Amino acid sequence: MPKQRQFIVVGSGGFSKEVVWAVQHYNTARPTYAILGYCDDDPAKNGQVIYGYPVLGSPEEVDAQLSEKPCFICSIGDNSARAKVVERVLSLGWIPVTIIDPSVIVADDVAIGIGTYIGVHSILCPNARIGQYAIVNNFASIGHDAVLGDFTQVSPGGRVLGASMMDEGALLGSNAVVLQMKKLGRYATLGACSFAMTDIPDYATAIGVPARVTFRHRPGMVLESEGRTMLYRLQAIFRDIFDDPTLRISEELSVTNYPDWDSVAMVHLVLATEAEFCVRFTTNEVANIRSVADLLHLLNNARKIPEPSPTFPVLRERALAETEQGEGDSTPTLGTTERRELRA
Ligand SMILES: CC(C)(COP(=O)(O)OP(=O)(O)OC[C@H]1O[C@@H](n2cnc3c(N)ncnc32)[C@H](O)[C@@H]1OP(=O)(O)O)[C@@H](O)C(=O)NCCC(=O)NCCS
Repeated sequence: MPKQRQFIVVGSGGFSKEVVWAVQHYNTARPTYAILGYCDDDPAKNGQVIYGYPVLGSPEEVDAQLSEKPCFICSIGDNSARAKVVERVLSLGWIPVTIIDPSVIVADDVAIGIGTYIGVHSILCPNARIGQYAIVNNFASIGHDAVLGDFTQVSPGGRVLGASMMDEGALLGSNAVVLQMKKLGRYATLGACSFAMTDIPDYATAIGVPARVTFRHRPGMVLESEGRTMLYRLQAIFRDIFDDPTLRISEELSVTNYPDWDSVAMVHLVLATEAEFCVRFTTNEVANIRSVADLLHLLNNARKIPEPSPTFPVLRERALAETEQGEGDSTPTLGTTERRELRA
């Protein structure tokens, strides 16, 4: 029997028990993961036993105790906080995995990103696309052609109807519904039992039937984590294009201080960035890109392509195969696979 892979649940709140439960289900069908316990920044939780497993310390403390890099899934329910912690854990070299409870019904062509959790008795209809580090909780229903961005969350019983969209970081409350072809904006919230019959703008909270916007965050309240997520996604592109899995980018990285960033690399970078973020840059914009800061500025002002990139889909089987085979630090993500297709 192949060796089981060490597995850490990042975060030890109430939802982490459900994650452990799903991993146990998964292991029953195919023994894959040796659950070591949880990591949590709260020192008061250290040593507590939750659903049969101990809290081992902060990610950095746990990393220092282990002889190999563990697999992980992040069980932090707050989408913005999850984005920050995932970035931190990835920088330790931990390996994200996708957990799909065996009871989930998944159509053949559904794409599911790495680090995503799909809970008990959910249903994912044909051509649904789920991004990275998303949470689709128990009894959720994701309609045909629906798109869920990275770090989104569908609470128990939530329904995303056909061809609708949840932008990055959006939260769908329990038993809430997004009508077909409508969009829940970036880091927006649709309250429990609410019904979105129109698009809900970025950063808004909407409640009721039909849902009305009651509150809008100032973008700055969530932009910090969003910006970090954007940088992290760009970094994955840079690592792939420059074939350097350890490359860390910052806003200051530019064509003048990074000699490998030549005109050929620029073409690949622009194409991959457009595919990753579903945007189109103009020729003039591309001609003025000199640094990562320029790319971030363009992304913040870019024209969104209404339809998701055709290079996005990755078959569920591939996501599962990546999860099951485990390729150490080189475990490909949805994004890198897309980019390879783009370059082929
Ligand atoms: C929408 C939501 C985010 C608002 O939270 P909040 O900002 O803390 O709002 P409050 O609880 O202070 O409520 C403010 C008002 O909105 C009303 N309200 C809150 N949520 C509502 C909902 N889902 N539907 C209808 N009205 C709602 C409250 O009754 C209150 O009304 P009042 O001012 O007349 O007393 C929250 O109520 C919600 O629905 N969250 C999703 C929870 C969920 O599904 N979690 C899943 C966990 S797995």
